[in-house]
Amino acid sequence: MQISDCHNFHDFRELARLRLPGPIFNYIDGAADDEVTYRRNTASFQQCDLVPNVLRGVGDVDLSVQVLGQRLAMPVYCSPTALQRLFHHEGERAVAAAASKYGTMFGVSSLGTVSMEELRKAFPTPQVYQFYFHKDRGLNRAMMQRAKETGIDVMMLTVDSITGGNRERDLRTGFTIPFRLNLGGMLQFALKPRWVLNYVTHERFSMPQLETHVDFGGGAMSIGRYFTEMLDPSMNWDDVAEMVRDWDGQFCLKGVMSVEDAKRAAAIGCTGIVLSNHGGRQLDGSRAAFDQLAEVVDAVGDKLDVIMDGGVQRGTHVLKALALGAKAVGVGRYYLFPLAAAGQAGVERALALMRTELERGMKLMGCTSVSELSRESLRFR
Ligand code: LAC
Repeated sequence: MQISDCHNFHDFRELARLRLPGPIFNYIDGAADDEVTYRRNTASFQQCDLVPNVLRGVGDVDLSVQVLGQRLAMPVYCSPTALQRLFHHEGERAVAAAASKYGTMFGVSSLGTVSMEELRKAFPTPQVYQFYFHKDRGLNRAMMQRAKETGIDVMMLTVDSITGGNRERDLRTGFTIPFRLNLGGMLQFALKPRWVLNYVTHERFSMPQLETHVDFGGGAMSIGRYFTEMLDPSMNWDDVAEMVRDWDGQFCLKGVMSVEDAKRAAAIGCTGIVLSNHGGRQLDGSRAAFDQLAEVVDAVGDKLDVIMDGGVQRGTHVLKALALGAKAVGVGRYYLFPLAAAGQAGVERALALMRTELERGMKLMGCTSVSELSRESLRFR
C-alpha cells in the first residue's frame, strides 16, 4: 500500500498503521476510557442529512472563509497537535508547508517539536499558537511573550485538559516522552525498522516551545502525567481574562462546550471558541462538538467566531458544520495519519482530497460560496 492508494481517512489511517510502531499509532488513534466520545464525534454527523438545491449555476465555487481575522482559502484548518516529529521526521514542517500550499491555517502546539519562530519565518500562512496553562507562571509569561514576538496570528488556549484523560492504550504500550517502553512496546518498534531508521538518522527529538523551562530528560513522562503534573488545575476565568487583555489580539478558547461558557468567553473578550472534546481524548462520555454547535451558535454566534473540531473525516461533515453556523472546522487525525504515512506529500494529499470533496459537495448542494450554506441546507432525522 502506498500514499497514491489512499482515497480517504480510513486509507490514510491504514497506511499509518502499517508504517508506525504500535505505541505511536495507538497514541494518535486512541482516546479516553471506552473511546465512546471518539466514535460519537464522527457518528454525530450522520444524525442529519444535507438537503440540496439544484439548477443554481455552480460553475465557480468559492471555498474561502474569514475566521479569527484571517482569510482562509478553505474552511478547514490543521488543528494544533503535539509531538509531530514522532509521527514523521518532517513533523510540523510538513504540516505547515501543506497548510500554506492550500492557503489555510495551522497550529503549533506547546508540545510541538519544531519552534514557532522557525515555522513563522518559513511559512506565510496564518499560524495559531496552542497554549497550555502551566503551573509555572514564569513559563506562561515567557511563552506569551515569545508568541507575540514571533508574530503568531491567533492565540488558542486549550481549556479541556486541566487533568490528563485516561488513555488506556498508552498505559498498555508504555508510551511516554522520552520512550520508556515495556517489553511489548519495544517489540513493536523492532517490527518497524524503517520508522526507526528515519527517526535515528534525522535531527534529534526536541520540544523547543518548552525546553527552557521543562526537563523531560529526567524521567519518562506520559501525556496524562504531563497534563496532571505540569498544567495548572486552578486556572479560572480571571486568569484567562488577564491573558486575553495581555495578548490584545485574536484569542480563542479551545475546548468550550457549554452555552454558559461560550457566553463567558464572549464576555471576557475572546474573539473565538473552538467547540471540541479534544478528539475524545479527555472526558469520555462528553457530547460531540457537532451536537452542541447549533445552540452555541444561536447564543454567541453574533459575538465571536464559533469553530468546531472532532471526528471530521469528509468534506460533507464540514459542510454540515458550516450549515449550522461554524465559521471553520479543525482537523487533527485527518492530517496526522497522512503525515505518518508520507510526510508533507501525505498531508498535501489529504488537504487536496478535502478540497476536492468540499468543491464537489458545494456544487451538489447548489452553493457557490460558504455563506449560502444555512440551516435550510440540512434536516435532522
Ligand atoms: C493529546 C494532547 C497532547 O491529546 O493534545 O495527546
